Amino acid sequence: MRLRGRKGIRENLEQQQDLVVLDPREYKGRWSEVFGNDHPIHVELGMGKGKFISGMSVKYPESNFVGMDMYDELIRRGSEKVRNHWQEQYQTEPESVRLALGNIESIEEFFAPGEIQRIYLNFSDPWPKKKHGRRRLTHPRFLEKYCTLLNDEGEIHFKTDSRDLFQFSLNAFAASGLQMRNISLSLHGEGINEEHVMTEYETKFVGQGMPIYRCEVVIGESALKRYHEHKMDEF
Ligand SMILES: C[S@@+](CC[C@H](N)C(=O)[O-])C[C@H]1O[C@@H](n2cnc3c(N)ncnc32)[C@H](O)[C@@H]1O
Repeated sequence: MRLRGRKGIRENLEQQQDLVVLDPREYKGRWSEVFGNDHPIHVELGMGKGKFISGMSVKYPESNFVGMDMYDELIRRGSEKVRNHWQEQYQTEPESVRLALGNIESIEEFFAPGEIQRIYLNFSDPWPKKKHGRRRLTHPRFLEKYCTLLNDEGEIHFKTDSRDLFQFSLNAFAASGLQMRNISLSLHGEGINEEHVMTEYETKFVGQGMPIYRCEVVIGESALKRYHEHKMDEF
């Protein structure tokens, strides 16, 4: 994603302490205090301009949402989007959502074990060259970290336009011994699936007629138990 430099962005972010977290390390193990409740915490890793996290936060106000990205300018754009969305929907400032500046490489420094209920990986950079495979956010080295941070109900929801990244990721989930479900090779194949809040990239790719690949990974013990009890229901 190409970003133009913009003066005063950091100052802008510093003035938004109700929404923007500039040093997520400060809140490791204390995110419930940040939100003032113990509702489940859902995190989008690589939120881009924030369309998805802002849409999810107004659609599901009973959950807490953290959108993370490593660029100040994306956090700033996301903050505008979130504030506008909350004003339109609830005529209030945002409550159950925070935008955090951080590099996912260090995710274990931002969240404590079992602190997250769901991780969203939306249109993660595909890193097509084989030598860059370790940078893909579904590489087993990242999956190991996610598994530690997810709670008893923990899941990963992954969508992408990249067939190669999808194939790599399914193999990475399998190699890590993780249970997949609801695998789709064309999420919007029969028209836009209104259940799914769309991301910026998704809106663009769907507009170009490209298929969207999606799957869920069931990780937490209770989530897995429920999955096994009902896994044959849909067949
Ligand atoms: C291809 S964009 C997708 C954005 C958004 N999820 C969407 O679907 O529209 C990938 C995003 O992930 C962010 N990203 C990639 N690697 C990251 C990392 N290691 N830490 C934090 N953010 C990262 C990029 O800055 C970019 O905003």
